[in-house]
Amino acid sequence: MLLMIRKDYDAVSKEGARIVAELVRRKPDCVLGFATGNSPLGIYQELIRMHREDGLDFSKVTTFNLDEYVGLPPEHEQSYHYFMWENLFKHINVGQRHVNIPHGMADDIEGHCVWYEEQIEKAGGIDLQILGIGENGHIAFNEPGSSLGSRTRIKTLTEKTRQDNARLFDSMDQVPKYAITMGVGTIMDARKLLMLASGKGKADAIKNTIEGPISAMVPATIVQMHQHATLLIDEAAASSLSGEWEGE
Ligand code: GLP
Repeated sequence: MLLMIRKDYDAVSKEGARIVAELVRRKPDCVLGFATGNSPLGIYQELIRMHREDGLDFSKVTTFNLDEYVGLPPEHEQSYHYFMWENLFKHINVGQRHVNIPHGMADDIEGHCVWYEEQIEKAGGIDLQILGIGENGHIAFNEPGSSLGSRTRIKTLTEKTRQDNARLFDSMDQVPKYAITMGVGTIMDARKLLMLASGKGKADAIKNTIEGPISAMVPATIVQMHQHATLLIDEAAASSLSGEWEGE
């Protein structure tokens, strides 16, 4: 694992965007795995700037998102479809047909999950998967206890995750109970992983991910098994590490 510690959220975002942009320039038809949440938002803003000011070209890029709430239509403001279009896709020149996000309103969810896996395979696999991390160590919506070999499927959200996300909804009972998520195994198939974390709230999850034993109870720990995983975190998220890590 490559651990990159940067001063703060902004520095993490700039470095993350640099890594993504470098891949897009080197391989214009690359397959990018995107995540939602606060962690990648700064990267998206920087990528939009690079598109506008430096002509960073996404026209041949294919994208796959990690997850989506079950029961929310794409136009719902809290859906991950909406998040991705508002915060990234509508501001860059990615082709609509090249964007893939699980569909939370699919009639046949199981069939949809199999189809989603097939689409990733057809696209040639994911070159770089961006990942956030939940305070409980989840990745995408693979909650503690998720099989480390799992594929795209429906998952029940833990109470902790629902509470963490409740701030975005009007009330707790509007927070979805289920999500479609790429599995841990799906994520591990990506050629490169870029995990992001900022702030003290993520410090314990990061400590467990880097220094803890690999365990399904902390799904993020599986990145220890990946050949090309980069953890790009800020000093606050690194503050519980016991190793002698140094920021740059
Ligand atoms: C949600 C998402 C995850 C994300 C996590 C952390 O649960 N499904 O993919 O990593 O939130 O979000 P944030 O980056 O806002 O802390």
